[in-house]
Amino acid sequence: MPFRDDFRWGTATASYQIEGTPTRQGGGESVWDMFCRRPGAIKDGSSGVIACDHAERYRQDVALMRDCGAGAYRFSLSWPRILPEGTGRINESGLGFYDRLVDELLAAGIEPWATLFHWDLPLALHYRGGWLNRDSFEWFAEYTAVVMERLSDRVSHWMTLNEPQCFIGLGHRTGVHAPGMKLGWEEILRAGHHAMLAHGRAVQVIRAQTKTPATVGYAPVGVVKIPASSRPEDLEAARTAMFTVPQGNFWNNTWWLEPVLRGHYPEDGMDAFEGARPPVLPGDLEIMNQPLDFLGANIYNGQPVRRGPDGRPEEPRQPHGIGRTVYDWPVTPEALYWGPRFFFERYGLPIVITENGVSTSDWVGLDGKVHDAARTDLLHRYLLELKKAVDDGVDVRGYFHWSLMDNFEWHEGGHQRFGLVHVDFATQQRTLKDSAAWFRELSRSNGESLTLENLEMPEKLEALERLVTEPAR
Ligand code: GCO
Repeated sequence: MPFRDDFRWGTATASYQIEGTPTRQGGGESVWDMFCRRPGAIKDGSSGVIACDHAERYRQDVALMRDCGAGAYRFSLSWPRILPEGTGRINESGLGFYDRLVDELLAAGIEPWATLFHWDLPLALHYRGGWLNRDSFEWFAEYTAVVMERLSDRVSHWMTLNEPQCFIGLGHRTGVHAPGMKLGWEEILRAGHHAMLAHGRAVQVIRAQTKTPATVGYAPVGVVKIPASSRPEDLEAARTAMFTVPQGNFWNNTWWLEPVLRGHYPEDGMDAFEGARPPVLPGDLEIMNQPLDFLGANIYNGQPVRRGPDGRPEEPRQPHGIGRTVYDWPVTPEALYWGPRFFFERYGLPIVITENGVSTSDWVGLDGKVHDAARTDLLHRYLLELKKAVDDGVDVRGYFHWSLMDNFEWHEGGHQRFGLVHVDFATQQRTLKDSAAWFRELSRSNGESLTLENLEMPEKLEALERLVTEPAR
């Protein structure tokens, strides 16, 4: 049995992508509400104003989680739903919503795993400078304390920030995500510094105020490098590349991990951003560097790496004709082997796959079902690799499938369907996809169903063809 007895098979979502805007419940707007109104910001002109209307339909959605066989649920809390201005006044009906959601989950036997921040910064705080303001980490601590006071008697699994690479990088550098700014490196490193301080302060607040023993992690993007061949020098090149800060590129692991897990910024990063430096004050790195119980990693794909002629890692193109998801992301199952393995080797923390999944082109068929064979196949391939990592001694504690249901995919709008459950956004009709049944069996068997035995493999097909072409006499 490769997966631990207490391994968690869960599904994941994020507040702005599913709930519907917080203002419908007396909350404040977030930067995403503002950003979605900007003409052209969202590909199909949609927004999260309604999204999956989950704040109203959460009971049905918890029942769907059960139908998917999920034993755990990773969701995020909307800061402005709880604190409309970001600090100060509490919106009781918003906080009460999470109370009811948690109770519903527990009643269904589903363990709640809450993320404090999945990008929906209160708009009021954005107008006070957002992450550029050094006070932001104290605002975040205040919000964390409110959440702890209310939910920590029943919630004991916490993640602080989701993907700082995205909300800082895509939000403030390329402007593709809210708040849609295009700043220079000095400001980016500043905002990132405050975000990592917020992470550290939140861990301190969780530890100090939790009413149940807390399990705390962080959920950055896992930027995964895959050895391009089985040659040892390619393996070494991939390992090096995975922990290097490339020039002028916020898509990396170490800038966002070393301060948090080791208490210092990576040396190579100091030359990577046109001379810009993070604004470190005495004591900052100690705040960031809090002991964690697990390292979350959001992993969707990986980049092959080999040793180049100059001895340095180089990144060849993905093989021509490689499978691609609707998002155009390459199908690279080995990412779920090398990612957890390299992270575990370097940091020694238990790993939780906090996101992994695929966007496919799904619709409800004439038979009323959703036949998403590509999702099932991709999951199967990726999870066989995760299993291999576990077999090889990597301490993996859980897997959260992104996503429970189709939802509002940020600037891509409704185009990208990541769910185990199909959502018709016009009617809010939910339909379990075929992959949901596959996931249920995966979870029920604790990964034992990850075998090729039940598949129609070519040899079986050949045997079948022979039967057809050579009828028995
Ligand atoms: C992410 C985000 C999710 C996305 C998912 C698919 O953490 O990038 O956490 O919100 O929807 O990754 O792009």
